[in-house]
Amino acid sequence: MTETSAPRPVQRPRALGEVKGWFPSLDQVLFDRFLSRQERLGEHGDLLEMGVYMGKSAIFTGSYLRPGERFTVCDLFDAEDAPDAGNAAEARKSYAALTRAAFEQNYLAFHDRLPEVVQGPTSLVPGVVEADTCRFVHVDASHLYEHVAMDIGTARRVLLPNGVVVLDDFRSEHTPGVAAATWEAVFDRGLRPICLTTQKFYGTWGEPEPFLEELLGDTEWRAGISMSRQQIAGRHVLRFSGRPPNPAAPESRYGHERRDTEAGAARSAGLATPPVAGSSTHPAAAPRRPSAARRIAVDILPPIVTRTIRRRRRRS
Ligand SMILES: C[S@@+](CC[C@H](N)C(=O)[O-])C[C@H]1O[C@@H](n2cnc3c(N)ncnc32)[C@H](O)[C@@H]1O
Repeated sequence: MTETSAPRPVQRPRALGEVKGWFPSLDQVLFDRFLSRQERLGEHGDLLEMGVYMGKSAIFTGSYLRPGERFTVCDLFDAEDAPDAGNAAEARKSYAALTRAAFEQNYLAFHDRLPEVVQGPTSLVPGVVEADTCRFVHVDASHLYEHVAMDIGTARRVLLPNGVVVLDDFRSEHTPGVAAATWEAVFDRGLRPICLTTQKFYGTWGEPEPFLEELLGDTEWRAGISMSRQQIAGRHVLRFSGRPPNPAAPESRYGHERRDTEAGAARSAGLATPPVAGSSTHPAAAPRRPSAARRIAVDILPPIVTRTIRRRRRRS
């Protein structure tokens, strides 16, 4: 008897919030701060993410890519390709549902083109990404000390002098290896902390002061975020916590399906105005609802134009 397997549902996320993953709103706000700052200052360079899972943070990061820049992502996608038994066990336990196709379908719901996808262990990255080419690197792959220490070494090698590195899970209870590799990099490998969130460490091998001054100087962006100043071995570090509203995220080409469903439900319930999904009392938390014409435009226009529309909406 031949076994028939049920067809796998096609990924059609209608909003970034529907993509499975680990990317809290606080870190979305900070990614936006760092990546928008680079744009504002005209700093060019490539982007790199090690550990994409279903694409949540990669989709967000990819919307800051500018013409002439390259976005490279690396993931095992398959636990069987893990470089050692510990890493394979970690991948089987936590990422069993992951496939490269799922990542790619998610990514293409928000962007017109895939990033450069490196399938395999992060040890492949130095062979693909050249030294001194990146402005932003997100390290979010294995949580085991040896791997993270290697990934931090890769980040240092590929980052431009004032580039930013973000290290995920640097202080979670279940990831002591990331904590060890992070603080080792600070004390022995010249990494300078800029700020810390509940989940992520933000640092640079360049000068952290200009970043600190800007994060401190501008208070508007910190609505809903608590901040404290810390000193670690004589260096200032900012610590942020809280759950601010999500900043404007890239739009899914399937977003209209959710809006249509909501409008239909509102009509059936006899409501004059459909409620906005995920809305809260904070005005910034309500997703923006583009006009029908703009929606269609975003769906059919060439990538460069849709990216410009999205960027303008993020700034406004
Ligand atoms: C915590 S998840 C990434 C979360 C993702 N950034 C997000 O936004 O949801 C970690 C990812 O790293 C991948 N991974 C684990 N070990 C790896 C290794 N040695 N090389 C490459 N990828 C690895 C896993 O397959 C998994 O997809």
